[in-house]
Amino acid sequence: MTAMPTTLAGLDLRAEIDRLRKEKNAVILAHYYQKPEIQDLADFIGDSLELSRKAAASDADVIAFCGVKFMAETAKILSPQKIVILPDMNAGCSLEDACPPEKFRAFRAAHPDHIALTYINCSTEVKALSDVIVTSSSAETILAQIPREQKIIFGPDRHLGGYLNRKFDRDMLLWPGVCIVHEAFSETELVKLKLQHPGAPVAAHPECPPHIIDHADYVGSTSGILNYAKTMAGDTLIVATEPHIIHQMELALPGKTFIGAPGADGNCNCNICPYMALNTLEKLYLALRDLTPQIEIEEGLRLQAKKSLDNMLEMASGTVGKGDLGVRD
Ligand code: 13P
Ligand code: SF4
Repeated sequence: MTAMPTTLAGLDLRAEIDRLRKEKNAVILAHYYQKPEIQDLADFIGDSLELSRKAAASDADVIAFCGVKFMAETAKILSPQKIVILPDMNAGCSLEDACPPEKFRAFRAAHPDHIALTYINCSTEVKALSDVIVTSSSAETILAQIPREQKIIFGPDRHLGGYLNRKFDRDMLLWPGVCIVHEAFSETELVKLKLQHPGAPVAAHPECPPHIIDHADYVGSTSGILNYAKTMAGDTLIVATEPHIIHQMELALPGKTFIGAPGADGNCNCNICPYMALNTLEKLYLALRDLTPQIEIEEGLRLQAKKSLDNMLEMASGTVGKGDLGVRD
């Protein structure tokens, strides 16, 4: 067993990470839900679709993925020749946990006339059992290309699936998973907050339950919400998604005010993603130094999962950076 370096606490971690990034020809990709100190040193920050595309296009030898495991696995599926490291291998996702591959396989077998349109927040095994992957910024564009008469299973996020069903008048069969972070917003507290800030719009991620979406002026992916903040007329925005995205809003729009939507205790701390929060500068430094923990995927499984991801990339083309499921009517 390798002992932890005793000098870790004394290191200039930012300088060390920078040195290692050059030495190993690594690119650091970060999701908007990462801690500000990680966002600040990333080469690229984005939503799930943008990060997938970046991973596929990068010419780096190493991808240091500051996000959660399904995102790092997506990078490895698309770029198998690269070393993909994840600072903490326990950075999972409640949606992935809610959809065990064997149960998903049985669900598919019970509905042989349905195709599986599957949210990217799932395991590689579930991707391999799916027909087309979607992210929150590509779901609308992709669903629009599937004929209305085609029966569809949508998993594992029942809130995103329900939102799409309502908005596009579809009746996709929904897998019963939820994101524990978006599930924790409180409608009562949100209404109180709106009363305190009359006129401030609410931007919500489609992983939110319908009682939160019903209060939203804009519904979209993380990049869509960020774009909405940049184009909205007012100077205050209530943000119903993981609050670390507010860091990019404050950097881009220093004169505006961004308020995280509250949880049941009136405090938005319960909406910090506990999985995303496992990544730290220390763990990123160690991962770059030792090139571990690495994502490994068996080749047959990778090729099977790549089909549904390739379908997504092809069908989603043109959506990068827009990230919009749309402004509500
Ligand atoms: P997007 O960044 O694609 O909107 O997804 C949010 C999310 O669930 C990350 O876990
Ligand atoms: Fe999963 Fe929700 Fe965390 Fe995203 S915010 S990684 S969906 S638990």
